[in-house]
Amino acid sequence: MVNPMTESTIQPSPESSVPENGNCWIELSKRALDNNIAMFRKLLSPTQKLMCVVKSNAYGHGMVPIAKGVIGSGADWLGVFSVEEGVQLRLAGIEAPVLVLGPSFGIQVTLAAKYCLDITIASLTGLNEYLSALPRATVPVHLKLETGTHRQGIMYDEIDDIARRILDTQIPVVGAYTHYADIEDTTEHAFAAGQRAQFEISISRLKALGVPIAMPHTACTAAAILFPNTYFEMVRVGIGTYGLWPSKATNVSAQNLGRAPLQLMPVMNWKTRIAQIKTVKSGDFVGYGRTFRTTRDTRIAILPVGYADGYPRSFSNAANTLVRGMRARVVGRVCMNLTMIDVTDIPNATEGDAVTLLGADGDETVTAEQLAACAGTINYEIVTRAAPGAPRRLLD
Ligand SMILES: Cc1ncc(COP(=O)(O)O)c(C=O)c1O
Repeated sequence: MVNPMTESTIQPSPESSVPENGNCWIELSKRALDNNIAMFRKLLSPTQKLMCVVKSNAYGHGMVPIAKGVIGSGADWLGVFSVEEGVQLRLAGIEAPVLVLGPSFGIQVTLAAKYCLDITIASLTGLNEYLSALPRATVPVHLKLETGTHRQGIMYDEIDDIARRILDTQIPVVGAYTHYADIEDTTEHAFAAGQRAQFEISISRLKALGVPIAMPHTACTAAAILFPNTYFEMVRVGIGTYGLWPSKATNVSAQNLGRAPLQLMPVMNWKTRIAQIKTVKSGDFVGYGRTFRTTRDTRIAILPVGYADGYPRSFSNAANTLVRGMRARVVGRVCMNLTMIDVTDIPNATEGDAVTLLGADGDETVTAEQLAACAGTINYEIVTRAAPGAPRRLLD
C-alpha cells in the first residue's frame, strides 16, 4: 500500500515563475546545457548510455528544468539521490529511465514500484528492506559495489550471500556500479585503477554465481573525461552536465593524458538586483563588526541576498559580483539576507540594476571556482547551495 501522506507531500518542483520580480533568481543556459551533453555524448560509443546526475536539485540548478533540458538534448538516464526526487521527475511528466542512487526504505521502495524508478541496493540490509516492502520484487535494481571508497556499497565478502538471495527471490538486477574515491583530487590515478580492477573482480564473481550484470557503470565526470575504460555500459555525469570541471587536477590530468580539450560551458547564472545605493563618507564603516572601512567617499550598493540564500558569509570582503559588466567587490560582512558591494567605479550603476553573483556579464565572469576559493570549498558546493527556492528558468 502506498502511504498517501508520504506520497502527497511530494510536489512537482516549480519550473519557472517570473524571475525578474524576485530578490534573486537563476537563469540556466540551454545552449550551455546542449553543448555539455554533446561533449560527453561524443566521448561515448553509440550503445553506451549517458546518465545525467540531477540529484540535489540538479546540483542547485533546478531539477525539473535541467532534467527536461538534458533529456531533450540527448541524455538517456537521470540519476537522483532519493525516491522522492524520482517521483518529482515523474510528476513533472519525465518518462526517461531514473536510477535512485541513495538508499530506499519501506514506503520508498513501494513508491519506486509505482513510479517506475530503478533503485540501488548497497547491502544485505538494503536487500531485506526491499523484499519486505516488495515481496514480489518488481523494481529493477542496480547493485552498488564497494571497491575502496567505503561509503555506500556491498563488501566483496557479502557478494555470495547477496547473490544467493537474489537468485532465491528473482530480484531483477539490471545493473551494478561503483564510485571512485580519489579520481578528481589527484593527478595520480593508481587508486582509481585499483577500484576499477576490484569492480571487475566483483562483477565476475556475481556472474560466476549466476547473476550476470547487463549494465555495469563506474564513471563520474572526472572518469568520463580521463578514462574511457571506466565507461562500461554507461557514464554518470554530474558536475560536467552543468559545465563545470570537477577540479583543477582533472584539467591537468586531461592535458597530461593528451585528452582532446573538452569545452564545457557553465549553465548557471545567479542574479540579484541593487535594492539601494548610498554614498558613505571616507573613513566610515560598512556592515556588522565594522570589518570594512572606506578610504574614499564610496558608493555602496545593497543587495537583497545573504547567507540564507546560499551566498556564504565567507564571501565577506572577498567575492566579486558583476554590475553593468564590471566587477564590484563585496565589502563588509555578508549578512543573513543582505550584502553590500562597492560600486564607486561604476558611476552609472543604479538602484534596480541586475547584479550577477555567479556567471557572465559582458566580458567579465564570476566563476564557481573563484567563489569556491573565497569560501574554502569546491565549485560543487557553491552551485548546489545557490538560492534555494529562488525561481530557475531555462533560457534559449
Ligand atoms: C554514485 C554517483 N555517481 C555519479 C556522481 C556524479 O559525480 P560528478 O558530479 O563528479 O560527475 C555522483 C556524485 O556525487 C555519485 O554519488
